[in-house]
Amino acid sequence: MKTQVAIIGGGPAGMLLSEMLDRAGIASVVLEKHRAEHVLSRIRAGVLEPGTVELLRSLGLGERMDREGHAHDGMKIAWAGRENFMIDVHRHLGRRFVAYGQTQIQEDLMAAAGRRGAAVLYEAEDVALHDLETAHPFVTCRHGGEPLRLDCDFIAGCDGFHGVSRRAIPPAILREFEKVYPFAWLGILSRTPPLPDIVYANNPRGFALASMRSPTLSRYYLQVPLETRLEDWPDERFWTELKARYPREMADAIVTGASIEKSLAPLRSYVAEPMRHGRLFLAGDAAHIVPPTGAKGLNLAVSDVFYLARALGCFYREGSSRLIDGYSDMALRRVWSSVRTSWYLTNLLHRFPGTSDFDQRVQENELTYLRGSGAAQLALAEQYAGLPFEPDPGA
Ligand code: APR
Ligand code: PHB
Repeated sequence: MKTQVAIIGGGPAGMLLSEMLDRAGIASVVLEKHRAEHVLSRIRAGVLEPGTVELLRSLGLGERMDREGHAHDGMKIAWAGRENFMIDVHRHLGRRFVAYGQTQIQEDLMAAAGRRGAAVLYEAEDVALHDLETAHPFVTCRHGGEPLRLDCDFIAGCDGFHGVSRRAIPPAILREFEKVYPFAWLGILSRTPPLPDIVYANNPRGFALASMRSPTLSRYYLQVPLETRLEDWPDERFWTELKARYPREMADAIVTGASIEKSLAPLRSYVAEPMRHGRLFLAGDAAHIVPPTGAKGLNLAVSDVFYLARALGCFYREGSSRLIDGYSDMALRRVWSSVRTSWYLTNLLHRFPGTSDFDQRVQENELTYLRGSGAAQLALAEQYAGLPFEPDPGA
């Protein structure tokens, strides 16, 4: 087989790239390891930054998001024993978020791919990348029991954190940056009406988060120790602990019900640099992981793909490599900004086991400052909203 861009991985990054390349008249083939049903079964964060919302709308992919998603202005912080306060992004910046699940975005992207007859090969096994440092790279795999060779001009590594693409970059070239946090999030999805706002809670019992997927679907999280086991957390225990971490009036407003999904996620930050090697470009979780605090993961995958699609478009349209040469640096600026924001929010809102009295007071002072300072709220609003996509410097 032959194509212009071989895309490894059919998650949100790979499928959005396939869509954006198609709009630019660039052919691609997506090689996805799993079955479509498996890709759709993953439940992930669901808060879309204003830039993500605008991009999806501009591609004609925003219709269901606007119908089913929950548009909101920012987030609330509930701090044990003190008054709640709001980081009102809409008031400061005039921009709004939409709470809309990654699962739904994946469905919308797959439906769009189906409509345009996109080449997406599911159950592609043993994917391997070759000749990245030449102008004629290729990918091999097994598909339907047969060996397959895909010749291409470029390879986009969109195969998530555990994929093969990043590992194709020689260790002497790849730099890795990592931070592991000493706790996990226990999350549940329930068919219950959510609180009206996304509320992050800092409580001596630990962090909690109230979020939503739709007017009838809620998502909640609790900070738990790393060694937590799901079987020790029946729904009853979850709801009791969740309510104990919110102020009385919010706890009373939380509607409980049977969970329809329950999962554990350890928190970590990871960045791989550079995001390009020869004819290989990494995008999304293949290159970086953020802790879920702030829900930046999907939004970063979207900005990577925006920059990469624009760069490849420039290459094919103008024969210029200026944007593909700048891709890694440009994408990494936004990546590090969101890495820092999610690190800041993680530090601000969680209770760290064994923290010193000094560090606890510093955290409390940070919250006091944030609650009282319009300037601090504006700064956080700007970061929580996500930096705007950089314009093409040569346009
Ligand atoms: N060959 C082909 N496909 C692979 C391989 C492989 N060796 N390894 C992994 N994949 C596929 C996975 O099955 C998955 O469908 O690549 C896809 C990667 O998708 P995601 O992990 O969802 O990553 P990405 O598309 O970058 O989306 C980022 O996912 O983890 C969240 O918070 C993150 O919301 C963000 C989003
Ligand atoms: C979610 O809805 O899953 C969510 C919301 C906000 C976050 C993280 C996750 O910061």
